[in-house]
Amino acid sequence: MCGIVGYTGPKEAYPIIITGLKRLEYRGYDSTGIALLNGGLKVYKKKGRVAELEATILGKDLHSHTGIGHTRWATHGEPSDINAHPHSSASGKLAMIHNGIIENYAQLKKELSNKGYVFTSETDTEVLLNFIEDIQKNNQCDLEEAVRIALKRVTGAYVILLLDEDNPDTIIAARKGSPLVIGVGKGEHFLGSDASPMLEYTKEVVYVNDYELAIVKPNQLILKNLGNEKLTPFITKLDIELAAIEKGGYDHFMLKEIFEQPSTIHDCLRGRLDATAGTITMSGVENNIEQLKKASRIIIVACGTSWHAGLVAEYVIEELCRIPVEVEYASEFRYRNPIINKGDVIIAISQSGETADTLVAIERAKEHGAIIFGIVNVVGSSIARISNGGAYTHAGPEIGVASTKAFTGQLAVLTMMALKIAKEKGTISDERYSNLLFELEAVPEKVETLLKSADSIKAIAEKYKGAKDALFLGRGYNFPIALEGALKLKEISYIHAEGYPAAEMKHGPIALVDENLPVIFVATKDSYHEKIVSNIQEIKARKGKVIAIITEGDEVIPGLADDVYFVPSADEIIAPMLSCVPLQLLSYYVGVAKGVDVDKPRNLAKSVTVE
Ligand code: AGP
Repeated sequence: MCGIVGYTGPKEAYPIIITGLKRLEYRGYDSTGIALLNGGLKVYKKKGRVAELEATILGKDLHSHTGIGHTRWATHGEPSDINAHPHSSASGKLAMIHNGIIENYAQLKKELSNKGYVFTSETDTEVLLNFIEDIQKNNQCDLEEAVRIALKRVTGAYVILLLDEDNPDTIIAARKGSPLVIGVGKGEHFLGSDASPMLEYTKEVVYVNDYELAIVKPNQLILKNLGNEKLTPFITKLDIELAAIEKGGYDHFMLKEIFEQPSTIHDCLRGRLDATAGTITMSGVENNIEQLKKASRIIIVACGTSWHAGLVAEYVIEELCRIPVEVEYASEFRYRNPIINKGDVIIAISQSGETADTLVAIERAKEHGAIIFGIVNVVGSSIARISNGGAYTHAGPEIGVASTKAFTGQLAVLTMMALKIAKEKGTISDERYSNLLFELEAVPEKVETLLKSADSIKAIAEKYKGAKDALFLGRGYNFPIALEGALKLKEISYIHAEGYPAAEMKHGPIALVDENLPVIFVATKDSYHEKIVSNIQEIKARKGKVIAIITEGDEVIPGLADDVYFVPSADEIIAPMLSCVPLQLLSYYVGVAKGVDVDKPRNLAKSVTVE
């Protein structure tokens, strides 16, 4: 939920840290701070975004070769200067930043308060820091050992970066449940929540695992477990460029990522789908194909937009593979006492791979013997690493808080996975299998085509930007897309929106319909088309305003709807990858028309790594 950056080496640390924090603001941006070592420990921090901190400390002595930085999404303690990270220890000799939640911090705080410690902030981080310093003092041990002892008593999730005035070129880092990447340079090291702060300096990175601790110096990276055993750092070579992180000429990351979808869906299919040869190559599926094809049930756990991808997958997998599928909100699944039978397959869907609810849900399921299959976008993320198998969506860094290209990547992976299992099970005819492979192969080009009329959505957005409420309706495979469209509009424009199965309207929601209510129908040509035409007529009869996402060549709905947006014709199983795109654009342009910061909407963060 927060962004962390660290540097130690021959370069000036401050410019690297402050630039890195700007790239990580999508992880949270309610307060920021830095700590620099240079003949002493200097800490600068405040409520607000990185640019505000930068302006505040302009002109101060920021010379240093070792430092850490933090951009926060508040969990314990409201956004404020005091609660901003880094926190300083009672002695003032230590400074620490932290991403995660220390669940037993209240107990630790009570113990320390009884010893006379006084806390200036409301954060769990300050408690952990003083707990570490207290151990160092009482045990007369070095800082590294004190960190190890402390972390064995801690419950919760953390990534911590720690500076010590007495070791001016060293950063001590540790992680459990939140992400940490260490960039390996020549005589220098970089640390970050993801690779974006280090990309222009090095492509060689080490992903730190849970319960690991790193002692980082300019020329040395020591990795250990909490048992003080040395580990060999595994270096991964990254293949993402800095440009992939920047906006690429678009006004916002969200718009860039919507328009990237033809290429990101292509990247997702590349090397896997070969329609001509009639093959789908997915090692994660192949290595688990026996469990997948024999699964008595598939449980999909996810949150938000990823949960909507799971709903689409339910329709696709049940249709093609004839395996019962249940889609669960991860946050509910983890706290219920769910029935998990041996032979169940759990599919975890997550763009960030760090969503706390999803992560814990699959940890619980794994304890019950379920096979975990992770569909994740961020390489090396926690969910990816605890899954038994999986498939990356290869959508590249998704910076906008609203998930767009990752969503269509998830749908592409899930469809390929369903086709592969169905083929193995013999539950799909050769002809249908082949047709769907070619349909899938054509998706990038069809998305390219439908994006050509993106500007027409601007006019629709302008027309309805004043709406107070909106209804999104769809049937069958497009019902989850109606839910996704409603979520997008809510989170990007702050307009209240609800998604429903179109037929469900008559059981209550139709009472909302009047001349002020825009009703968005996801009505591409499919086996439900006639029914949804009737639903549109029911809305028109009550003076509702109808916006319809329809298939090129539809000659019925244009005569009924107030506004339409055409998408290319596609099999109903494939259509969701097309019909969701105009809804992404609609929420984007309404948000822009309303002056919302569409990349960083209020109250939201890109990766919800806390409960
Ligand atoms: C999507 O637009 C939202 N920002 C949010 O619902 C997101 O999908 C959800 O938090 C799950 O995130 P994940 O895919 O990284 O697990």
